[in-house]
Amino acid sequence: MKIIEKASQLRPLLSALREQGLSYGFVPTMGNLHAGHLALVDAAAEQCDRVVVSIFVNPLQFGPDEDLEAYPCTPEDDEKVLIEHGTSILYRPTMADVYPVGLEHQTRVEVPGLSEILCGSSRPGHFSGVATVVNRLFNQMQADKAFFGKKDYQQYLIIKKMVSDLAMNIEVVGVDTVRLDSGLAMSSRNSYLSASQLEQASGLYLVLQDAVERYRRTPENYRGIIEHGIAELKNRGFVPDYLTIRRQSDLKQPGAGDVKLVVLAAAWFGNARLIDNLEFVLPSRSLQSTI
Ligand code: PAF
Repeated sequence: MKIIEKASQLRPLLSALREQGLSYGFVPTMGNLHAGHLALVDAAAEQCDRVVVSIFVNPLQFGPDEDLEAYPCTPEDDEKVLIEHGTSILYRPTMADVYPVGLEHQTRVEVPGLSEILCGSSRPGHFSGVATVVNRLFNQMQADKAFFGKKDYQQYLIIKKMVSDLAMNIEVVGVDTVRLDSGLAMSSRNSYLSASQLEQASGLYLVLQDAVERYRRTPENYRGIIEHGIAELKNRGFVPDYLTIRRQSDLKQPGAGDVKLVVLAAAWFGNARLIDNLEFVLPSRSLQSTI
């Protein structure tokens, strides 16, 4: 695995892959890699000839009171697992390489609509920071495909919309969430939790599963199901930000005829803001007005 820190070093390596007729997949990350990231690397390795991973903790996507300073950083462990999973190139750019004109003067990418709702309403500017860095990394990489975890469902849809709206020449692939045996979704922020908190935090997954079952039975009770889910999260020690059921395609509220849905939630547990979601599809006979 080649480890490089400058876009200028990246270019000849990527050109050499192209000259050999090899495709390559790109996995952008902020490091502290866990099984969820490795599923992205594995998917890239399955679908492309070579895998390129970036590690960059992007200040532009953290709010002033968020955990940028505390964000876990484990470079040696990351290198080891990336080699084990067959990564060809690890790009670990410096701040100057990603934001040469500084954060203040950086041109921003805004994906309207999807960016202001749900996580975007409690984390203003977050998704603009994500879209901006991913756009820059995509331009530096020129990869065939890019791989994103569906745990960050809203982020995944925002990146797909950015690629479509800006006619970018890359395919965005969503990869299923990896979970602990308890059902808790893998996340770097799980490291903020103690062993017993980790066990309790799996309640988020159980509440989402319960909401899906209730919605399948009585889709007309949309509001009651949401209220019940939020109350259940509170009972289990969470401080909920939101729990909602939306269309998979654009995160709008479902109406009559919408069958591809996703239940999403964000909730604080101890020092960790956890997010999770479950996609589900209603049988077409359940078609009915829901709200
Ligand atoms: O999902 C992440 O880890 C980050 O938001 C990403 C896509 C690497 C952009 O910084």
